[in-house]
Amino acid sequence: MRALVLGGSRFVGLSLVQELLERGHQVAVFNRGQTAAELPAAVQRLQGDRKDPQQVRAALAGRDFDVVYDVSGYVPEDTGIMVEIFAGRAGHYVYTSTAAVYERRWYAPVTEDFPYNEVEGGDYARGKIATERLLLQAHRERGFPSSIVRPWMVFGPGNPLPAREQLWFRRIGRGRRVLLPGNGYTHMQYGHVRDLARAFVQMGGNPQTFGQSYNVTGPDLVTMNGYVQLISALTERDVEVVYLDVPEAAAAAAKDRNLLPFPWQYGRIPSIQKAKEDFGFWPSYNAEQCTADTYRWYKEQELDTEAYDFSYEDQLLAQYGGDPKRSGRITASGEMPQVGGG
Ligand SMILES: NC(=O)c1ccc[n+]([C@@H]2O[C@H](COP(=O)([O-])OP(=O)(O)OC[C@H]3O[C@@H](n4cnc5c(N)ncnc54)[C@H](OP(=O)(O)O)[C@@H]3O)[C@@H](O)[C@H]2O)c1
Repeated sequence: MRALVLGGSRFVGLSLVQELLERGHQVAVFNRGQTAAELPAAVQRLQGDRKDPQQVRAALAGRDFDVVYDVSGYVPEDTGIMVEIFAGRAGHYVYTSTAAVYERRWYAPVTEDFPYNEVEGGDYARGKIATERLLLQAHRERGFPSSIVRPWMVFGPGNPLPAREQLWFRRIGRGRRVLLPGNGYTHMQYGHVRDLARAFVQMGGNPQTFGQSYNVTGPDLVTMNGYVQLISALTERDVEVVYLDVPEAAAAAAKDRNLLPFPWQYGRIPSIQKAKEDFGFWPSYNAEQCTADTYRWYKEQELDTEAYDFSYEDQLLAQYGGDPKRSGRITASGEMPQVGGG
């Protein structure tokens, strides 16, 4: 198929380009040309700023694609113009949304019919919700062939959010104590970027997915203690943990977003059954394999030697460490942690 990736030069979009090429598809990307990327010569490069309607029209109007993958749209204006341009010219329009569009619930799994929440996810979620609405309305009213993908946290080689993986590797690999919220038993779920790319490709051009939304992530859950344990095993280092209670963790995370870069106050656990039923997608990387693959890349890139200013963490560790009720130990060999306070 002839595919266009809006974005395409980093992480999610770049993995999608690689997956499309490996499966023999013809690929074009549209971006500003600012993010450095080594794309194979076979990839057609279309250039422009999607915030500027004139540039978008100049680069994209009059072109036909079997599938357009919108990986870089955040607000409805980014995508509204694409709907205008690609009506009748794109066989399928796949939009990258996010799990952050959902309301938090006290039960799981989150299925695609769960309500939106426009308050909790801030501007990011509001922009994605408004864009989803625009695309679903265009499908309902004009038959525009749109689909929505809602990834949970995306991990893997090339992750541009260093706090989510690289910083944990660095802390633990250097034998530092780590801070976790509560007792470390909040569950989280993440998926490998290459699995997400595979889901995109598998659904491309499938009319059953038009007008539909899909959760996409990994197949299993891990607690925050468990995440630390996976890294403890990879780095072959036991880890001393200092647990912060919820108000302490909230205050610390408000000062430094890199401390707890996950939704840690609640677990948001999805069902990914709909993607399996409609287009046969099932992730191939579980949490452990995903983290191991990212760690392999991190070592290969020699990112473990990069400097990071841990002074705020050191301040918190000096303040809260040393209290047996807050202390835990997570071992590389994987016994369950002894959480202070029972
Ligand atoms: N990471 C996660 O955990 C997570 C979870 C859920 C959903 N998501 C979604 O996944 C997507 C992330 O995609 P990504 O990692 O590929 O990167 P991204 O940061 O969304 O987009 C970067 C790409 O878009 C291009 N771009 C940026 N601004 C542009 C503009 N004004 N006009 C044209 N092109 C522009 C960049 O190239 P140039 O700089 O050269 O223009 C680059 O190719 C997002 O939609 C995000 O909401 C991510």
